[in-house]
Amino acid sequence: MEIHTEGSLLLHELTQELPGLTALDGLQALVSHAGEGLVFSTSFGWEDQVITHLIFENNLPIKVFTLDTGRMFPETYYVWARTLERYGREIEAYYPQAEALQRMISQKGPSSFYESVDNRKECCGIRKVEPLNRALEGQQCWITGIRAEQSANRQDMVSVEWDAGHQLVKYHPLFQWTLKEVKEYVKQYNIPYNPLHDKGFPSIGCQPCTRAVAPGEDFRAGRWWWEDASKKECGLHDVKS
Ligand code: ADX
Ligand code: SF4
Repeated sequence: MEIHTEGSLLLHELTQELPGLTALDGLQALVSHAGEGLVFSTSFGWEDQVITHLIFENNLPIKVFTLDTGRMFPETYYVWARTLERYGREIEAYYPQAEALQRMISQKGPSSFYESVDNRKECCGIRKVEPLNRALEGQQCWITGIRAEQSANRQDMVSVEWDAGHQLVKYHPLFQWTLKEVKEYVKQYNIPYNPLHDKGFPSIGCQPCTRAVAPGEDFRAGRWWWEDASKKECGLHDVKS
């Protein structure tokens, strides 16, 4: 695993301290250790809404950003707008590079992602991964809404880890939370959330690549449902360290 000295020190400190803390204490400890270069990515799912609430209500110096792929559900734009109304704070929006997108769609049409895993990864690469790389450039720590319970892959992760691809520490403050705890928190603080969650969508990505799941089905079964389960990460979180 490639890691620079500053990153290694921060990773060491955070690994010692953060995993036992509540989400808010963890975020506060992160702020006091790292000070700056802290960013949180939101896709407006309810885990992300809990973290957004913690950041904005406690005025934590953490930049909140989203990757607008251009293919999101209308409900996602709705909760985005409601979140701005509720907290009155900035959420930075990142967009795909127009030329790469134009080229792909001109050559392959608007729905090439259904045709092969390579095409799907190309679309995720242009619409999410490249903008993510820009959003993370020069940052020290990337905060996400990942929970262990979300998939078998994610159960093998830890709440503080080194992201070798982006050369920064990644922190998942809700890593140990259950879905029940997330829902209760959202309800308790009346946090705006995506109405699709009440319609069988535990995990919400782009509209053409997400569908509802049946009760008891895997959380991520509705994401890229036509693909083999082992391929279901979009490149945001599958960079191995
Ligand atoms: S994904 O890799 O399958 O798309 P998932 O939807 O489970 O990820 O979300 C996990 C975390 O990745 C979210 O909590 C959020 O931090 C980040 N994330 C996913 N999609 C986006 C997006 N479009 N914009 C910003 N962050 C995102
Ligand atoms: Fe493209 Fe689907 Fe990936 Fe969204 S999830 S970027 S529409 S392939």
